[in-house]
Amino acid sequence: MKNKIKRHTLIEIIEHWSIALSGIVLLFTGLGCLPLYKRYYITEIPGFGWTSDFYNVTMVHYIASVVFVAGVIFHIFYHGLRKDFGLLPKKGDLSKSIKVIAAMIGIGKEPPSDKYLPEQRIAYVGIGLIILILTVTGIIKILKNLQWIVLSPTMESINTLIHTLTGFLFMFAFIVHVGTVLLFKSNWPLLKSMFTGWIDEEYVKRRHSIWYEKIKMH
Ligand code: HEM
Repeated sequence: MKNKIKRHTLIEIIEHWSIALSGIVLLFTGLGCLPLYKRYYITEIPGFGWTSDFYNVTMVHYIASVVFVAGVIFHIFYHGLRKDFGLLPKKGDLSKSIKVIAAMIGIGKEPPSDKYLPEQRIAYVGIGLIILILTVTGIIKILKNLQWIVLSPTMESINTLIHTLTGFLFMFAFIVHVGTVLLFKSNWPLLKSMFTGWIDEEYVKRRHSIWYEKIKMH
């Protein structure tokens, strides 16, 4: 394609959106397990009647978790084996992130970036850790429900508490992630690339000049 650069492969796009969509369903049904929806009349909204039944909400939570966990395991093995480590933080990312965020709101000049922005690399580790704890505590809850493992009541409540707390952290990370993509116009070409896989060469030259140099060297 002319004047375009390949940013994401089809595999990466499917990977991102299957984790994102199942993640949204998990957030929604996870909150529904608390339970909140009867109290706030969500169950009265047309099409949301099913959320009044705990069994339905938990079932949908389980189904979405299969997609989510499969996506996470695929992500770790696929990128681990391919040695795609572009999203792991580098030295100096914290101070560069502050500059990138300041530049997004019009203060100062953005430092040159590699394929990913320094704040994306930091966010990746943050959301990654949250997801790992969520997944492990979620799996422990299932094994306990299936009576494959027996937990003392204290251990069970600690596990549930960690799952709920990391669930809220996940919701917070999700809002920040979607917010930074949608609120800042400078990030919109990245959103387009998450659907098409391609990004304008001009955008890369301007914003991801370190990545651009690497591409041109090959
Ligand atoms: C549970 C939900 C989601 C998870 C776990 C997730 C995770 C990620 C991760 C790990 C990245 C890589 C780099 C980064 O941190 O920016 C990323 C990139 C991205 N995500 Fe998400 N995401 C989710 C939902 C969404 C949604 C709903 C949108 C739509 C607004 C979205 C749009 C993007 C975009 C535009 C990128 C940037 C790609 C690039 O740099 O080219 N994500 N996401």
